[in-house]
Amino acid sequence: MTSEMTVDVIILAAGKGSRMRSDRAKVLHELAGRPLLQHVIDVAQQLGPSRVAIVVGHQADAVKAATAAAVVWVDQTEQLGTGHAVAKALDALTGDGVALVVYGDVPLVEVATLAKTVAVAEQGDVGMVTADFADPAELGRIVRDGSGEVASIVEYKDATELQRQISEINSGILAVDKSRLKGWLDRVEPNNAQGEYYLTDVIEMAAADGVAIHGIKARVPEEVTGVNDRTQLAHLERILQHRMASELMLNGVTIADPDRLDIRGTVRTGTDCFIDVNVVLSGDVQLGTNVTIGPGAVVADSKIGDGTVVLAHTIVEGAIVADNCSLGPFSRIRPGSVLESGVKIGNFVETKKAHLGAGTKAGHLAYLGDAEIGSECNIGAGSVTCNYDGVQKHKTTIGDNVFIGTNTTMVAPIQIEADAYVAAGSTVTTKISSGDLAVGRARQRNIKGWTPPAQRRAPAVQGPDKDK
Ligand code: UD1
Ligand code: CA
Repeated sequence: MTSEMTVDVIILAAGKGSRMRSDRAKVLHELAGRPLLQHVIDVAQQLGPSRVAIVVGHQADAVKAATAAAVVWVDQTEQLGTGHAVAKALDALTGDGVALVVYGDVPLVEVATLAKTVAVAEQGDVGMVTADFADPAELGRIVRDGSGEVASIVEYKDATELQRQISEINSGILAVDKSRLKGWLDRVEPNNAQGEYYLTDVIEMAAADGVAIHGIKARVPEEVTGVNDRTQLAHLERILQHRMASELMLNGVTIADPDRLDIRGTVRTGTDCFIDVNVVLSGDVQLGTNVTIGPGAVVADSKIGDGTVVLAHTIVEGAIVADNCSLGPFSRIRPGSVLESGVKIGNFVETKKAHLGAGTKAGHLAYLGDAEIGSECNIGAGSVTCNYDGVQKHKTTIGDNVFIGTNTTMVAPIQIEADAYVAAGSTVTTKISSGDLAVGRARQRNIKGWTPPAQRRAPAVQGPDKDK
């Protein structure tokens, strides 16, 4: 998508966004887990621009701090209008070439549309993105002359009743040669209903100078829909979620209900996966083939192997899970968990920095933290690695084929060698050698003919008559 000419992208993001009713800068509100501004930066980067300049004003410091990309920051301390903002950016973007103006709060614009717009500018014309809106509300209207050529853009507040009937709107996205743009912007005056320097005024100047103006229609209206309040944010979120869900479905994933899946990151999958309702996938998620993700599950920054089943309400975070495992329902697989092939983790089992060898099972109610566990082990219900002494974390090492009885307390650091057994209810504090059985519990004693305390009390003396 690179062009022979130099393209600089200008992202406008200085506005206040008061309709968000938020302490957070508008462009830092998130769509699919990424700030609105990041979406715009990412699509801009796909054009291979020489520079990306971002005009900031309101909460500039917060916006700068939240943005890792290498960009040129342009401070616009007073928001005197889009024309003023672009003029400021052009001061920072010296040299020849084309400028593309996009908005930090219009996150779903597509690279193909931007590329077309830039291509027009590279021919020496003006490219601008328009759309036909059923309800154009207060957006700027595209005014065309008798021969259908774009003549000007009129802002809603300055428009006549007749002009307000126009359904073709200005998205605000525009590309043009920088030196031309600079010349026009120098002549823009704030003579309008809002007393602002309108970027849109350059269109009429371009027409007057005989420069052709190409309106490039957005592929879909959402491409140019801006976020001004939280209902629009939610609207675009769903649209983006649908796009991502469609992509997965086209790649061979069955999604129970695309309206009830949320992806906040990148998801790569094999074919024949099934994703049930209310699943959240975030960060970098990789699913093999034939993976099932049950209802209400959360998978973050994890890799899940072929044929593995993640049952309802299971949380998998920062884990590597091999093939044919079964996790959940209601399990919590925390960062640093590595589960080999065929591992089974049942309800209310938590793992953290734990490596479980192939075929090992922890079916119910266990905590396995800082543990190296071999293959084909059985970890009984209620078993816990006591990894923390209040100051430091310690490791539990368990060999292959170990049987850990129900309700075992393993006080780390501890080593349990291969083929060992631990009797139910044991507290184990010292190494268990291969093949041994450890019984670490008080011996049971039975007391003959036990009289319960209630029966031991002396018969009650008749008290004073309460009715007296
Ligand atoms: C602008 C367009 C309008 C278009 C609409 C699309 C102008 C004069 N009007 O109107 O034709 O239909 O966008 O959404 O351009 N900004 C700055 N500095 C400023 C002013 C604005 O950085 O001084 C930024 C805002 O943060 C925002 C963008 O520019 O990202 C658009 O500003 P906004 O005030 O929303 O413009 P509109 O009046 O909606
Ligand atoms: Ca706006």
